[in-house]
Amino acid sequence: MSKFARIIGTGSYLPPKVVTNDDLSKTIDTSDEWIRTRTGIQERRVVTDESTCDLAVIAANNALEMAGVDASELDLIILATTTPDKIFPATATMLQTAIGASCPAFDLQAVCAGFIFALTTAEQYIKTGAANKVLVVGSETLSRIVDWNDRSTAILFGDGAGAVVLSGSEETGILHSKLYSDGNYLSSLQVSNNYINETGFIEMAGNEVFKIAVSRLSSLAEETLSACNMTSENLDWMVPHQANIRIISAVAKRIKTPMDKVVVTLEKHGNTSAASIPLALDTAVRDGRIQKGQTLLFEGIGGGFSWGSILVKF
Ligand code: UT7
Repeated sequence: MSKFARIIGTGSYLPPKVVTNDDLSKTIDTSDEWIRTRTGIQERRVVTDESTCDLAVIAANNALEMAGVDASELDLIILATTTPDKIFPATATMLQTAIGASCPAFDLQAVCAGFIFALTTAEQYIKTGAANKVLVVGSETLSRIVDWNDRSTAILFGDGAGAVVLSGSEETGILHSKLYSDGNYLSSLQVSNNYINETGFIEMAGNEVFKIAVSRLSSLAEETLSACNMTSENLDWMVPHQANIRIISAVAKRIKTPMDKVVVTLEKHGNTSAASIPLALDTAVRDGRIQKGQTLLFEGIGGGFSWGSILVKF
């Protein structure tokens, strides 16, 4: 049985179509200036005819390549997504076949905290010895559930995918993880359909979500660090869910982490829900900011609410 689950490869993929703030301001009553100052977002990617699985396949193959792992060696695939391609079968099974794997594969739904929930689940499989090599992917095509006429949400979201390969190891890897859910806030952030066959769009009480995100994520970050007998000084990088630069900087300030130790990609990606953390992680790994042996804090919150954090030695 392995003591730790280590991240041995990362990958990501963004669809090529760019939608800028100026593009949005041509169809809805908004402006580049408002979006930049209130959210930090400058542009986002949007699929044309790609599916959630298509994005996941490229991100997964990039992560497998970095890890030096063949898809046939995988023991498990977990795909975190809020925008599966079909009600069933699970998009993870489409991904499994597309990359040439033959292991069990399932989808996991915890909205913007999906990657944290999936990584935590994968870690448990590895620590119990039930799996040794696990592919965890966050992939989203949120543009399919955005009301493009609603300026309070249309400006926020983007499409993309990120992936990691985890391996059982005696070397330190994931150090701590913690998950929370509170279903009292269902209507604060949800897709509006009442029935599964009805079309619905994202609805959000932005202000309420904002305040809860800052308070829950700050206390969770403190709780996570103290569970590992660390302070924010021990952190090399915070890799947060990319929802709003004001949420990210408020949390960083509360836990006394300077912004030059925070990976921020939302200016180019927008909020890609379950894909946002692995997308940010892969970006910073590939541009050389994140190095092996560094201590990283992942954290995110989304609909439900569900929220969680993971402290990892990379
Ligand atoms: O990933 C899951 C978690 N999601 C989040 O973390 C999102 C959390 N919430 C937020 O990021 C922010 O609340 C928003 C970016 C959604 C909104 O920012 P805000 O600073 O909370 O703005 P607000 O909702 O308080 O609206 C301020 C004003 C309003 O006008 P009045 O009532 O003051 O006249 C809005 O109608 O801004 C107006 N407004 C806009 N104006 C231009 C709202 N959206 C827009 C827009 N362009 N796109």
